[in-house]
Amino acid sequence: MTKLKWGMIGGGEGSQIGPAHRLGALADGHFEFAAGALDHRPEAGRDYAQRLGIAADRAYGDWKEMLAGETGRDDRIDLVTVATPNSTHFEITRAFLEAGFNVLCEKPMTMTVEEGEEIVKVAQASGKICAVNYCYSAYPMVRQARAMVRAGEIGKVRLVVTNFSHGHHGDATDADNPRVRWRYDPAMAGVSGQFADCGIHALHMASFICDDEVEKLSADFASTIASRELEDDAMVNFRMSGGTVGRLWTSSVAIGRQHGFDIQVFGETGGLRWASEQPNQLIYTPVGGRTQIIEKGEGGLHADAQRLSRVAIAHPEGFPLAVANIYCDLADAIRGETRDGLPSAADGVRSMAAVHNAVASARQGGAWVDARPPMFR
Ligand code: NAI
Repeated sequence: MTKLKWGMIGGGEGSQIGPAHRLGALADGHFEFAAGALDHRPEAGRDYAQRLGIAADRAYGDWKEMLAGETGRDDRIDLVTVATPNSTHFEITRAFLEAGFNVLCEKPMTMTVEEGEEIVKVAQASGKICAVNYCYSAYPMVRQARAMVRAGEIGKVRLVVTNFSHGHHGDATDADNPRVRWRYDPAMAGVSGQFADCGIHALHMASFICDDEVEKLSADFASTIASRELEDDAMVNFRMSGGTVGRLWTSSVAIGRQHGFDIQVFGETGGLRWASEQPNQLIYTPVGGRTQIIEKGEGGLHADAQRLSRVAIAHPEGFPLAVANIYCDLADAIRGETRDGLPSAADGVRSMAAVHNAVASARQGGAWVDARPPMFR
């Protein structure tokens, strides 16, 4: 299978979402990382792209240079990811769609509704894919929830309640930190702070699992830290076109909540609950019955959940990242930078000695034996 060529704009060194895109895009061998304009500082972007293995002539200084460079190539990229700050998404996404590229854009896709509608139209006219990174919807147990709703396993959905509330901007003494402040500054963030940042993930999730559209809403926004112009807390009531009642709470001042994204769907014959901090499980309660835990990777899942359960049952979703960390430490070690904690041959032989000595102990009715290999006694 020929690899597809992938490029990224933004997601430079030290960015929050860049590593997730690189790990995600490259994990399965579908894509090769062929081009990038990774940083708002041209030289830093070029340098980092080349350190990540991109050829010098495709390590671009900015997205316009990348657009011109890629448009002129026979082996142009098949997909570009836009992982820059929000205010730049519209112009970059539109330009790449118009030039005939497929795009994965970070959320929020645009700053205004007018821009959003234009992107939809430009994508339609170009015939190219324009996807938005509502990545939580790709968890296998979220797909299971949607498939259960679609199959009528909880009956008609009456009520959906979702939260995306964390406390990481809850310290008023940190409100002026530039990394926090821009999120509540209309000039940088647009008309909404927390709702546009996190609330839209929860709203998308409600639509996604209920397989229905949000038709109307009523919102209560608050800036609980007085210096903030935009909201840091919001409660949004909504109704879906099929009549489902929706309630959504999003906050960045909920001290003690970490990621804090969860959803409950209540139907006529059952209820479902999924939480991003325990993504492997979907909690299901049939009316009048016992609560059950449905596990990623188990038998009998709906097809889409089975297809996306790529980490075997009993291993958490983050398992491949733990393996990736071993490779990171190995790469550092090969390059001469010793990494404390890299499991070594000594750990290997200690395990073997423990196995053999446990067998010996068991055979002696549980006698205490030395667990260590002779070389470490
Ligand atoms: P960040 O501030 O950590 O990193 C932004 C990166 O983009 C930096 O490397 C910066 O140098 C680069 N950049 C800025 N302007 C650029 C330009 N004009 N051309 C090329 N590179 C440019 O931001 P973060 O947190 O990584 O967020 C980026 C986007 O990803 C935002 O839209 C954010 O909402 C979204 N995001 C989505 C998440 C999700 O769950 N889907 C999670 C976190 C962020």
